[in-house]
Amino acid sequence: MTSFLTLGNMKKEEIFYLIELAQAIKKQPLKYKDRLANKIVLMIFEKPSLRTRASFDVAVKQLGGDTTIIEKQDMPLGKESIEDTAKVSSRYYDAIVARLFKHDDLVKLAENSTIPVINGLTNEHHPVQILSDLLTIYEKFIVKDNASDFKDLKLCFLGDGFNNITHSLIQGCAIAGMNISVGCPSKFMPDLEIITGAKKLAQASGIKLFITSDPVAAIKDTDIVYADSWMSYHVPKSEEEERIKTFMPYQINAKIVKHAKTNFIFMNCLPAMRGYEQTAEIIDGEHSIVFDQAENRLHMQKALLLWLLNADKIK
Ligand code: CP
Ligand code: NVA
Repeated sequence: MTSFLTLGNMKKEEIFYLIELAQAIKKQPLKYKDRLANKIVLMIFEKPSLRTRASFDVAVKQLGGDTTIIEKQDMPLGKESIEDTAKVSSRYYDAIVARLFKHDDLVKLAENSTIPVINGLTNEHHPVQILSDLLTIYEKFIVKDNASDFKDLKLCFLGDGFNNITHSLIQGCAIAGMNISVGCPSKFMPDLEIITGAKKLAQASGIKLFITSDPVAAIKDTDIVYADSWMSYHVPKSEEEERIKTFMPYQINAKIVKHAKTNFIFMNCLPAMRGYEQTAEIIDGEHSIVFDQAENRLHMQKALLLWLLNADKIK
């Protein structure tokens, strides 16, 4: 049994395998329609979600399985331990997708489950999002340009560096072999342990990992410009005003993208706030691929479920 909690211990070949599987499923979805017959997936949400909830729910159902979706406040968690919840759920279900605040709680859930646990986002990581983003980038650049890997591409993230999307992007790019720069305020640098681990991986795959508080240096000659909310689900409303001031120099707008490559693509995992992490003209403009990006959540979720549930190869 393997759980999927971060991208940190994935291998490059596994990422490419999942990208290829997701592409095959996207092309011929009906070929996979019974692969999860009789499988039931539990989904636990401690925070709001549209894309993660909907894409996993539709993915499981289109693969012939079923789901139970439970909001954390409707579970006796707190009255009973995470360990007991994990052990009981493992008796009914075939996998768990969980969106929790604390990453340590997710680890505890996985350690006490006998079925795969999938991270549907924690405060520190959002690996399922980045896995499907790699599929999107693959489609937009690798397939189109007939290239074989990501090594000639550069992705730039501007905004909150100490953030789940940023952390998973750093790990995903380092492993998949894509150059990445992060432009963020010095008070919001990514987690040091994640940077240290990713630097080793980046060295091994021969790509550059560049972290700076200078947004122009970060975005220079980039192929992919990536934004995420300044107000992540776990950030209290009381911090909003201060964060807007802090992050405004990192806003993706018409002026700053002049430093990117002319054919750059714009990505945002969504939900997005126009006027904050990017202007409306950017997210609604010709470079934006955010809805293709959102669609790919579905195809990649299917590939991941089949892989983790050992249903990817026809027996
Ligand atoms: N991108 C993403 O995970 O969206 P949701 O929060 O709507 O699931
Ligand atoms: N950083 C964002 C990602 C949303 C998908 C958050 O945690 O809310």
